[in-house]
Amino acid sequence: MKTTFSIIKADVGGWPGHVYVHPDLKEIANKKLTEARKSGLLKDFHVTNCGDDLELIMTHTNGEDSKEVHSLAWDTFCEATEKAKELGLYGAGQDLLKDAFSGNIKGMGPGIAEMEFTERKAEPIVAFMMDKTEPGAFNFPIFKIFADPFNTAGLIIDPNLHDGFVFEVWDIQEHKHVFMETPEEMYGLLALIGAKSRFVIKRVFPKKSSKLPSDEPVSAISTEKLYQIAGEYVGKDDPAGVVRAQSGLPALGEVLEGFSLGHLVSGWMRGSHNGPLMPVSVGQAKCTRFDGPPRVIALGFQLKNGKLTEPVDLFDDPAFDRTRVEAQHIMDYMRRHGPFEPHRLPMADMEYTTLPKVMKKLGSRFEKTK
Ligand code: 13P
Ligand code: 13P
Ligand code: MG
Ligand code: MG
Repeated sequence: MKTTFSIIKADVGGWPGHVYVHPDLKEIANKKLTEARKSGLLKDFHVTNCGDDLELIMTHTNGEDSKEVHSLAWDTFCEATEKAKELGLYGAGQDLLKDAFSGNIKGMGPGIAEMEFTERKAEPIVAFMMDKTEPGAFNFPIFKIFADPFNTAGLIIDPNLHDGFVFEVWDIQEHKHVFMETPEEMYGLLALIGAKSRFVIKRVFPKKSSKLPSDEPVSAISTEKLYQIAGEYVGKDDPAGVVRAQSGLPALGEVLEGFSLGHLVSGWMRGSHNGPLMPVSVGQAKCTRFDGPPRVIALGFQLKNGKLTEPVDLFDDPAFDRTRVEAQHIMDYMRRHGPFEPHRLPMADMEYTTLPKVMKKLGSRFEKTK
């Protein structure tokens, strides 16, 4: 049996500012998805939030890009937006860029991490959700998990992983994609994905030599770039991703190890600053200081015939305390740079913020240097 695992997320109003999701919005999502499970459209679901992003984790058998499932998510976000307006939440409907649903939620504002695959006997799966950052924030950990033997011991000692994986990389400026194999093409892959504001890992596949089907993803990441869609700054495109683990794939602990650095990502404060990505429990995913720092949460499930177990809140663990403390040191250090790069993003990445308006105001005062 093939199951589709879909995370569809949107910021439809912050409480307060850009800190958190109000419980009334999650209640609406729970109600809508419960109805969809009763009607058979969904097999199962879990609603959560990372900071101010409302996250719909759904399982079904409708495949990727299902009109019915995407429309369910769209309707849920629209209903939650109405509630957000009623409560006067901040930026109500922020991520809904179109007025009417036209069959596919792609390009309409919400982020989608979705993949269809044949369930194994036991299917451990992790939903990662981030706030105050961008899809390229996944490049570093996904590379570590599937390609770095210093992170994933299985690449060396498990014959099922020894051949490596295939990475699908999107050029989000040119709207092109390329498939690259590790370990053979590792340096070329890093040349691309190190430039994380342009090249983003979209999916990872097993190789042809794997026991797993080579055309079924083992990981998928949301790559919608809000500012590319909207043409002007309307909030950051906080991403989500899904990773399958064990039995021919990295072990669950190897998957989580990819997040142990607190690596630098962009998107903090007004979508315009770099800062460390701090792995936290769901309850701690409240973006407070300087609207951050950027956060990632991880929910682990076992999946069986489309049904999800209760999630385990995987970063709710003292084993990640050191990463969090380190992230706080880095946060202080970066903050002391104030408006200076590299805390502030480089000019090219500020193109869609309010900075160009400041530049415009100065425009006529610029004179040619001698
Ligand atoms: P199990 O033997 O319980 O599957 O654990 C495998 C493992 O080594 C995980 O790191
Ligand atoms: P969100 O994208 O999470 O709404 O954050 C906007 C922002 O830049 C807050 O400083
Ligand atoms: Mg917001
Ligand atoms: Mg957000």
